[in-house]
Amino acid sequence: MYKHMKLIFATNNQHKVDEIRNVLGQTLDIITLKEAGIEADIPEPYDTLEANASGKSAYIFQLTGADCFSEDTGLEVAALNGEPGVKSARYAGEHRSFDANIDKLLSNLAAKQDRSARFRTVISLLIDGKEMLFEGICNGQIITEKRGELGFGYDPVFIPEGSDRTFAEMSLEEKNRFSHRKKATEKLVAFLNKLSTNH
Ligand code: IMP
Repeated sequence: MYKHMKLIFATNNQHKVDEIRNVLGQTLDIITLKEAGIEADIPEPYDTLEANASGKSAYIFQLTGADCFSEDTGLEVAALNGEPGVKSARYAGEHRSFDANIDKLLSNLAAKQDRSARFRTVISLLIDGKEMLFEGICNGQIITEKRGELGFGYDPVFIPEGSDRTFAEMSLEEKNRFSHRKKATEKLVAFLNKLSTNH
C-alpha cells in the first residue's frame, strides 16, 4: 500500500513542502531532505523545468537509493516570451532575491498591455528505478504592484484566474484551490494510487 511508502521530497524549500503536505493530507507520508538528514544544495543547471526536475530526483536517488520525487516550477509570462520560466529563481541574479526578481519582472512588464502569465510545475517521480513526469499549470495575471504577505516567490504579484486576490493574500488552503503545484501533486497521487491497486 503506497500509504506506507517512504518517499523523499528532494527540496530545501519549506514553502513547497507545506503546500504539498496540505494537498496530501493523510494520504501519503513524504520525507523532506532535512528529515532524511541530507544536506545538499541540489544543482539546477538545465534550461527546461523537465530537465531540472529529472536532475534533482536523479541526484537524490544517487545519494540515497530511495524512491523520491522533486519538482521544478517557473513563472511563464506571455509578453516576455515565456520568461522568466526556468530562470525564475535567479531572474535578477544569483542571490535569488524574491523582491529583486519581482522588481525586475514589473519593470520589464511596465510598457506591456498583455499581463497574462502562468505558473508551471513539473514533478519528477523516481520509483523502482523508473521515472514519471507530472505537470500542473495555473493561468493568471501579473498585477502592477505587490499585494499580500503570505506565500513566497512571485506570489505577491500573481492573481490566478477565477480570483481577484494574489496568491500572497491567500491562505495555503486557498492557494491550493488554484495552484499549479497542487495540480501536479494530484497527478502524482493518482499515479501512486493506480500503482498500489495494480500490486
Ligand atoms: P524552483 O522550482 O525552486 O527552481 O523555483 C523557481 C522560483 O520560482 C522560486 O524561487 C520562486 O521565485 C518561483 N516560484 C516557484 N513556485 C512558486 C509559487 O508557487 N509561487 C510563487 N513563486 C514561485
